[in-house]
Amino acid sequence: TSGVIIAMDGPSGTGKSTVSRRLAAALDASYLDTGAMYRAATVWVLDNGIDPDDVDAVGGSVRGLELRVGTDPSQETVSVAGADVTGPIRGAAVTAAVSAVSAVPAVREKLVAMQREIARSADRIVVEGRDIGTVVLTDADVKIYLTATAETRAARRNEQNITEGRGDDFAAVLADVERRDRADSTRALSPLRPADDSVPVDTSELSMDEVIDTLLTLVHERT
Ligand code: C5P
Repeated sequence: TSGVIIAMDGPSGTGKSTVSRRLAAALDASYLDTGAMYRAATVWVLDNGIDPDDVDAVGGSVRGLELRVGTDPSQETVSVAGADVTGPIRGAAVTAAVSAVSAVPAVREKLVAMQREIARSADRIVVEGRDIGTVVLTDADVKIYLTATAETRAARRNEQNITEGRGDDFAAVLADVERRDRADSTRALSPLRPADDSVPVDTSELSMDEVIDTLLTLVHERT
């Protein structure tokens, strides 16, 4: 009994999370944000006073990580050791350290196993991340690779920063987008790249509604 699995990969700033959540809601499916899981592991590492660049220490600490993640597309819930970390996982310290933590083999091993189990037990699920179609769920029914130019992605994030009162600094945001792209696509373990059988969707020139329409058409064609 295997349900329908939709893999959503791509770099940050493509609108991937909003798109994935809305797609899941439209399909009456569950939603798994794997980035939130790497962020939660990073909260655990930082709260334990571990240097995120110390591979052995990070790897050792992850054994004690007790992580729970919800799959309701209308409400995100993430907890670490029983404490709600839904807010803290979006903080600047976590964002700065998450690339290092997510590059540690023991971290990926543990989280990938959890992701497979959650996806397997779902009736229908949209799973969002970087390596879902290439590593985690290679037999997904539909694989989407969302892209947008670095400038488009930085402009969107900068707008979001302004709206949320975090200031206006396009150059710094663009540099951060490019740094994270580089870190995620050049790492040895599960680098960010499109799966051979994924469908690329460039969101640079599309509205959110147009992106959702495109994806719903794709999903209906393939499932
Ligand atoms: O999607 P989000 O920006 O929240 O992901 C945070 C970080 O988690 C990414 O920059 C990446 O380093 C890592 N990540 C990953 N594999 C995934 C999802 C996220 O390595 N499947």
